[in-house]
Amino acid sequence: MSLLLRVDAEIEQATNVVLARLGGLRPDVGLILGSGLGEMVSALTDAVVLPYDNLPGFPKLSVAGHAGRLVIGRMGCHVVAMLQGRLHAYEADRGDAMAVPVGVLARLGCSILIVTNAAGSLLPEVKPGDVMMVSDHINLTARNPLIGAVGDGRFVDMVDAYDPDLRRRFCDLAVTCGMPLAEGVYMWFAGPSFETPAEIRAAKVLGADAVGMSTVPEVVLARALGMKVAAFSLITNQAAGMGSAHLSHARTLARAVGGAAKLKTLLMLFMENEA
Ligand code: HPA
Repeated sequence: MSLLLRVDAEIEQATNVVLARLGGLRPDVGLILGSGLGEMVSALTDAVVLPYDNLPGFPKLSVAGHAGRLVIGRMGCHVVAMLQGRLHAYEADRGDAMAVPVGVLARLGCSILIVTNAAGSLLPEVKPGDVMMVSDHINLTARNPLIGAVGDGRFVDMVDAYDPDLRRRFCDLAVTCGMPLAEGVYMWFAGPSFETPAEIRAAKVLGADAVGMSTVPEVVLARALGMKVAAFSLITNQAAGMGSAHLSHARTLARAVGGAAKLKTLLMLFMENEA
């Protein structure tokens, strides 16, 4: 193991618990299921289900819509390890809240990590129910999952963090299935309060196309561990101050459903092809 993260020992222990349950299955793709996407596990066959409670160092979750299970099974040509629920930095007050789960996916052999989230759109033409593929991110939260990590591996290059080849393939697949797929920059806000309209205006000036409360720390961890990354935002609302509606978590969950069905189709197509 890398001796990079302060939770390396827990990653090793949890990996051993998972391996003891897997038989011959070895995942090559990891998938983090954000708000409203938990149902995606129904796409797996021969699924092995491991509640986070049984896995050393895995988080205890507190947010509705996040079940807290690692589910591993076959999907198309791949074996996919799905993290059904994440711990957000606002629940843990730590940037490395997901270090153990992401580390376990890397340790199990996942060379690709696909991260999903619910997000607010800053683009008037990208509306609730649409899916935005993340091309880059902005992190001005002053949190980073590698704070406290040791060694030169912590100085992770974030150019092309969202893998250009994967992005090209997803764009092509979206065209194939006639699905509109927006692409843009995701800006991480620590939450849990939603942004103010003034913060959204500032985010717009800085170059953000969507805002949300997750994903960035997981992507930094995955890049540190050498995984290729793709990420998708399910747009659940226009960002604060852009629409007439007030924001709430219940509304986020309700609005994620439409985008989730589209993203499921796209991911199933992706899994039909070799890496
Ligand atoms: N802001 C932050 N997180 C979100 C939003 C938003 O507008 N919508 C869904 N998750």
